[in-house]
Amino acid sequence: MTETFAPRDLHSHANPGEVRVRHLELDLEVDFQRRALRGSAILQFERRDAAASVLRLDTRSLDIRGVETGGPAGWSRAAWELGPADPILGAALSVPLRSGDDRVRVAYTTGPAASGLQWLEPAQTAGKRQPFLFSQSQAIHARSWVPVQDTPAVRVTYEATVRTPSDLVALMGASGNPTGGRGGTYRFRMPQRIPAYLMAIAAGDIGFEPLGPRSGVYAEPSVVGRAAAEFSDTEKMMEAAERLYGPYRWDRYDILVLPPSFPFGGMENPRLTFATPTVLAGDKSLVALIAHELAHSWSGNLVTNATWSDFWLNEGFTTYIERRIVEEVYGSDTAGMEAVLGRQDLEEELARLDDRDEVLHIDLTGRDPDEGATRLPYEKGALFLRTLEELAGRKRFDEFLRRYFDHFAFQSITTAEFVAYLREHLLGGDGSKLASVPLEEGIERPGVPASAAQPASENLRRVAHAAEEWTRGRCEPAKSDFPRWTTHERLQFLRRLPAAPSAEQLRDLDRDFQLTRSTNAEIAFQWLLMAIRGGYAPADARLEEFLVGIGRRKFIKPLYEELVKSEAGRRRAAEIYRKARPGYHPIAVDTVDRILGSGA
Ligand code: BES
Ligand code: ZN
Repeated sequence: MTETFAPRDLHSHANPGEVRVRHLELDLEVDFQRRALRGSAILQFERRDAAASVLRLDTRSLDIRGVETGGPAGWSRAAWELGPADPILGAALSVPLRSGDDRVRVAYTTGPAASGLQWLEPAQTAGKRQPFLFSQSQAIHARSWVPVQDTPAVRVTYEATVRTPSDLVALMGASGNPTGGRGGTYRFRMPQRIPAYLMAIAAGDIGFEPLGPRSGVYAEPSVVGRAAAEFSDTEKMMEAAERLYGPYRWDRYDILVLPPSFPFGGMENPRLTFATPTVLAGDKSLVALIAHELAHSWSGNLVTNATWSDFWLNEGFTTYIERRIVEEVYGSDTAGMEAVLGRQDLEEELARLDDRDEVLHIDLTGRDPDEGATRLPYEKGALFLRTLEELAGRKRFDEFLRRYFDHFAFQSITTAEFVAYLREHLLGGDGSKLASVPLEEGIERPGVPASAAQPASENLRRVAHAAEEWTRGRCEPAKSDFPRWTTHERLQFLRRLPAAPSAEQLRDLDRDFQLTRSTNAEIAFQWLLMAIRGGYAPADARLEEFLVGIGRRKFIKPLYEELVKSEAGRRRAAEIYRKARPGYHPIAVDTVDRILGSGA
């Protein structure tokens, strides 16, 4: 398969059209005292333009110690230059090349506030005795811990040596993760080509439990047992995905459960999904997150968005596949409920977003790619694929997707390339129903086409009815059914109650359903939103504990946004944030600083 060429990536300084990095060799020491990674990166590259005389890399707040170029005549010091630091993109590192050079060595140290790393004090971990480090490279934060061509259009293989204090463990999204002994020096190899945003590293007091023949879970020792129980269906999920879309191509699939400050639900780092501990509900009710990150092993990691404007190719496909996996493993009722709740999320997002951000193929000119990471590409993208599935029929659509993943395996593609493939391999031929799919409307315009699929769930319809009854003062059937409901049904119930219930209603809800005490993070979140809106004081302490203890952006962002709507709420938010901020990840700090008007 020839490699496809993306248009210029707005979010990278790199020049892969002229000189393209192919392989990385990292040698890094994890210095918890200085909160820095220190070492070197050797980048082997290929010239695509024989006349090219400069390699341009992305960096962000890296302290560059020295740069050498290497060729047939060995290493030689280079007259490198660091450009101005753009607030979104960081600084370009330009390295002049001699004619035979095919590699560059950069000696560097990461900055103390590297946007892609979080350094945790022992107090911020479950064990309280050892520090912890983890990376989060998507979308453009890899450049804050490795000088790279930080565009998803460029894929590299890598090898790495990582040194830690001798009683800690280092992990990477690669082969070589230890399942037993420690010693302070770890070697990794990533033989499959990946884009920089999928590079990942972590270090801390981390244990391991196997889940299946090719999967396992890493977490702090006091968490790893619970995590293994929660994720015990992982191998089943892998088998389901393989039946649908072809072999798993990354050898192992392990999961690392991070401390609660991890700003996302999950991150699909190849071979080693990073996950929030807030999905450890004790009853597997939130494991769709694992189905989601696993699904990225096909949509995203195997076939990758070429630019951040094509992000929906990663997330929309993955959300669709996530639900197919859930359907295989947990049945169509569960998958149907997730699709309906997702459709509600989409509606909420549509009510909030500007027209330009309702477009799947989004224009991010002059913006941080994180601004495009709303629910829209996930849910509108998934709905688009579901619409295609309904029109084509499952069998045909499954075959189409399977071939699509084969055809573009280990490549990065644009929306236009997907559309061309879709036209040729699914929409072409017989025409009729499929010829009517409004592609342009679905992908390039705001809103949702009237012809889109309409997910429905009998369970959730019944729960919505119970919520209506409850709101009208009839506490049955909710009161007797709630204890039997699944997490999804409980969420639907809460969503269908008045957005800002009266003080009396909140008190009744809490008395009957023990919501303030819920240990399910999704339910607690939904409840706390209502509690803020209705000014329900008995939940105050829980809200503070939640916001200080958890740094997952999906939860904390709406809660702070809700708080600042009133003057008293704004004061409370500022007070809570003063305690919470030191524990938040740089990405979460950035988000909440914006909501509270910075600095705090
Ligand atoms: N790749 C994303 C996380 C991400 C997106 C990080 C954009 C940075 C920028 C990951 O696969 C994801 O979608 N995570 C979701 C969970 C999922 C179940 C919807 C999350 O973190 O909420
Ligand atoms: Zn995702």
